[in-house]
Amino acid sequence: MLSRREFLNFSAATIALTSLPNQIQSNQLIRNYKLTAEITPHLFDKKGVLDSLWLYNKQSPGPVIEAKENDIIRVEFVNNLDEASTIHWHGIKNINKMDGVPYLTQDPVQPGETYIYEFPVNNAGTFWYHAHFETWKQISKGLYGPLIVKNHLDKQFDNDIIILADDWRLNKNYQLDKKSLGSLHDWSHAGRIGNWLTINGKKFPEYSVNKNGYARLRFINASNARILSFGSSLNGMKIISIDGMSVEPFIQDKFDLGPGQRIDLLIKTDDMSTIDFFEVSGKKPLNAFKLNVNQSSKKNIVKKDIKLQSFKKIPPYKNPKILKIHMQGGAMGNLAKAYFEGEEKNFRSLAMEDKKFWAFNKEVGKYEHSLASIKKGEIIILDVWNDSRWPHSMHLHGNHFYVESKEFSGDDKLILRDTYLMQPGEKSKFIYLADNPGKWLFHCHMLEHAASGMIGYIEVV
Ligand code: C2O
Ligand code: CU
Repeated sequence: MLSRREFLNFSAATIALTSLPNQIQSNQLIRNYKLTAEITPHLFDKKGVLDSLWLYNKQSPGPVIEAKENDIIRVEFVNNLDEASTIHWHGIKNINKMDGVPYLTQDPVQPGETYIYEFPVNNAGTFWYHAHFETWKQISKGLYGPLIVKNHLDKQFDNDIIILADDWRLNKNYQLDKKSLGSLHDWSHAGRIGNWLTINGKKFPEYSVNKNGYARLRFINASNARILSFGSSLNGMKIISIDGMSVEPFIQDKFDLGPGQRIDLLIKTDDMSTIDFFEVSGKKPLNAFKLNVNQSSKKNIVKKDIKLQSFKKIPPYKNPKILKIHMQGGAMGNLAKAYFEGEEKNFRSLAMEDKKFWAFNKEVGKYEHSLASIKKGEIIILDVWNDSRWPHSMHLHGNHFYVESKEFSGDDKLILRDTYLMQPGEKSKFIYLADNPGKWLFHCHMLEHAASGMIGYIEVV
């Protein structure tokens, strides 16, 4: 672990974090998928009334998209909704024009249209995909799914289980509460917080794992705004990967997952019979899911330790370019005035006339709002200050950044992330090499906050 001073005072050379989405080579394997977004009947609970969601391929969550490191993913996206949409591949160091941001990297895909996404995946890890058009509505209605990139090390695991969690807000008929979509209260406070947790679309599912084996669990938080918090019946959980990037493994009794974030656990199943997982962010702990250890398998096989990808340490760099991002707004905040579309307005009129509550550097953002333009090859330090009363799950498209994370108990950890959960008042530095040209969105993944101003892009030219 680096000390704070070492972390900030590197000198010499450059940093290269993850490999670039270079040109597609003819010998790369193409993984073909088709995703059709459509209105789909859905029953949340037997006690409830049939509902209609917006899903990919009529399933919640959408199908698993899986590839090996260095493959090409090719997705034919068919939009059968009655409004425009796009798909974003969250966490993938993408080719900019495949990033799926409407107005910024592509035109919205209109109802009835088809759009081809094709991009290489150069880093094994846990990612996800989701609609990126009016996300506060389209993601809340179910338009998302897991995207998993594997490499040869993944063969060592006896079980590999995706745990995609969502926090739905249901009404008393156990249907999606559509009336409250767009509520000003949600937009100016913590975002849309739900009341119905699903894991892979189900309430409290069970999975079976091998005895005396190694299981990999890939947690993904697809909630609009809830910071999920997971605990288990295990004596500590071993975290091996964060936001699709390996870390030096460490143990936590409990971990938080902000919207958009991922965490992978390694579990050695030994002789236990069941392992229970809980979600503890609400007033009372919820049963999240259960692992049943298959007692008949591999009775007395003692396996050797598993080999994991090592953490890519921050290489030395010099002359970073510092971009200050001062986040303000929301209820009980200190944003008196801000600029929106070139006009300075007070907080009240922004709220009432434009439904905007949040700003970076006193500017209310939108997809086409430029935060900065930087030169390819520069080392960037995003110097971010959450000067509001609310936590924010800050996501940078197309890049992972180093951050001294305060998210875990114990010491601060220097990790690579694409989404970092910032507490009220927190100041952090996100450090990365701007080697990927294009317009990269930077926004809060609490989707109501992004919709009401906490959004903009950083261009690399
Ligand atoms: Cu998963 Cu722009 O976000
Ligand atoms: Cu936020």
